[in-house]
Amino acid sequence: MGPVAAKRIGIINSGGDCAGLNAVIASAVKAGIPMGYEFIGFEKGWEGLLSPMKFRQLDIPSVAGISYLGGTILGTVNKGRFGAKGGVGEKKRIPEEILAEAKANLQSINCEGLIVIGGDGTLTGASQLAELGVNIVGVPKTIDNDLGATDRTFGFSTAVQIVVDALDRIHTTASSHGRVIFVETMGRHAGWIALRAGLAGGANAILLPEFPFRVEDFVDFLHARHSDTGSSVVMVAEGAKIRDQVVGRHNTETEIQLGGAANRLMDDVERLCPGEFEMRGAVLGHIQRGGTPNAADRMLAKAYGVAAINAYDRGEFDRMVCYRHLGMETVPIHEAVATLKRVTPAELEYTTAKQLGVFIH
Ligand code: F6P
Repeated sequence: MGPVAAKRIGIINSGGDCAGLNAVIASAVKAGIPMGYEFIGFEKGWEGLLSPMKFRQLDIPSVAGISYLGGTILGTVNKGRFGAKGGVGEKKRIPEEILAEAKANLQSINCEGLIVIGGDGTLTGASQLAELGVNIVGVPKTIDNDLGATDRTFGFSTAVQIVVDALDRIHTTASSHGRVIFVETMGRHAGWIALRAGLAGGANAILLPEFPFRVEDFVDFLHARHSDTGSSVVMVAEGAKIRDQVVGRHNTETEIQLGGAANRLMDDVERLCPGEFEMRGAVLGHIQRGGTPNAADRMLAKAYGVAAINAYDRGEFDRMVCYRHLGMETVPIHEAVATLKRVTPAELEYTTAKQLGVFIH
């Protein structure tokens, strides 16, 4: 009898890139090949699986030395024919013909299943494809750390560190000039990056999407601080509600593109007390997503890659691997994407910041 043919699995990453993606890909491949699997990687997310398909073989040499690299060797998009999210987090049904095409394309290249690495939009799409009988294991990916089923997503820790490094620099220039500097972070509708980085980086105010505030109260806080110390650093999550609204550009096809919260808040402060504070803004943007993953994220991403192929091998399909209680578990994908994990007043970071006199509502 000849050697048993390897079972072919596809890897897809879709949505925004995230430090640690390459480490997940490499680890799934390195752990899976000795288990009797062969891997292909679809390029540019789901688009690579739809016609005309674009994929490449992922063998051990092709994934060697990539785990410390930011971005993704497969490329990615957060729009396209497989979009399952739009507006402010609304879930959408992918057209049946697109799902059927994806399934047929997989069959045409003898690919028996997928490891899908993505946030709630990507995984919502994955779950719809799994309903057609495609073998899928999901891996959570977002710097926002907002997936309900998992304690941590890779890429988050790196993003937080990047913001803290920025805050360290902002503090010295803010205090030298006696300015109020607003630093805007990513995070969409959850304030995890801003909360954790704001606390670690010593921000004087932390403004999160979860806790609407009155600009008048914020101005009172600035007055009190400036009669005392003369400068402030304000951490503003991009999803913070200024004038009770999320600031961003709506697009009919993709999710709302956030950004501009810090500028809007500066305008409001200026309107309430013209010329009183010298203010500047810094939007950190994609700096938070790019570059090398830190040690914690590499470690987590490697564990996710290995857990994903193990879950696949056990036949745990339509499930997402998740990091809970310091170990790896799996949950049904639909359950994993059902709730957005948002900051609550019970969070240790929140209560700590509050007691330290940080303006956080
Ligand atoms: O969800 C990850 C994230 O980085 C958000 O924090 C941010 O709002 C968004 O993606 C930015 O997306 P894009 O790369 O499309 O601008």
